[in-house]
Amino acid sequence: MSALEIDQPLLSVRDLGKRYGARVGCEGVCFEVYPGEVVAIVGESGSGKTTLLNCISGRLPRSAGAVVYRMRDGARRDIEDLTEAERRLLARTDWGFVHQNPADGLRMRVSAGANVGERLMAVGERHYGRIRQTAGDWLGKVEIAGERIDDRPLAFSGGMRQRLQIARNLVTHPRLVFMDEPTGGLDVSVQARLLDLLRGLVADLGLAVVIVTHDLAVARLLSQRMIVMKDGRVVESGLTDRVLDDPHHAYTQLLVASIPES
Ligand SMILES: Nc1ncnc2c1ncn2[C@@H]1O[C@H](COP(=O)(O)OP(=O)(O)O)[C@@H](O)[C@H]1O
Ligand SMILES: [Mg+2]
Repeated sequence: MSALEIDQPLLSVRDLGKRYGARVGCEGVCFEVYPGEVVAIVGESGSGKTTLLNCISGRLPRSAGAVVYRMRDGARRDIEDLTEAERRLLARTDWGFVHQNPADGLRMRVSAGANVGERLMAVGERHYGRIRQTAGDWLGKVEIAGERIDDRPLAFSGGMRQRLQIARNLVTHPRLVFMDEPTGGLDVSVQARLLDLLRGLVADLGLAVVIVTHDLAVARLLSQRMIVMKDGRVVESGLTDRVLDDPHHAYTQLLVASIPES
């Protein structure tokens, strides 16, 4: 990556709004994501986090604003101006999306190896031996024993399924990964392990990530920058350490004060 490319945002969100009929999902949201940067979107349930994530990842049509992505060739395109084929290609190659519920991001009835291999085939890999080798390597990276490669995720625990979903997303070396509460459905002990693993992979691969979480400890551990939402609007944003150690907005102060001491 050249110095010039690092200086340029990968994703620019301008005045984004989404209405569900008369109800506001989110409104007036502006932020940017730079290469290799982890941005956390936090806020209580119903504050608009999932709406925002789905709009910026092209999964949900917005009602207002712009979402501009810098493509690999350097062209800046609003994601709603892409053709359906271009959008699908982006979603399979340049982007990842990690769902809270792994069943939404996996094919539960095909093997773990095929779940990972499928993404490789989508970027043009055709050699069966190499696909299986790479899938096996990735299972190792997410701490799934190689002997489980032919098992279906149906037979996996929640934590294993989530790790498999992460491998499936990262195997193509995406530039930008969206995550919606990736540790939300897991036991606390399993969460901690998964967070460690995620942090390592994100750093090793230099991924840009937009992660939605209601858990400020997750934001603290993974993100450099943070956006705090309330009632669909951004009430505060800044460097994660600054926001958590010196929250300016009363709502952020309340959120921070409600974290149990650890
Ligand atoms: N499909 C939908 N139809 C109508 N209202 C919705 C829909 N999805 C979300 N909302 C509303 O939009 C607001 C933001 O919801 P959401 O984005 O799911 O918040 P969060 O992810 O922070 O819990 C809430 O008031 C919610 O009730
Ligand atoms: Mg949500």
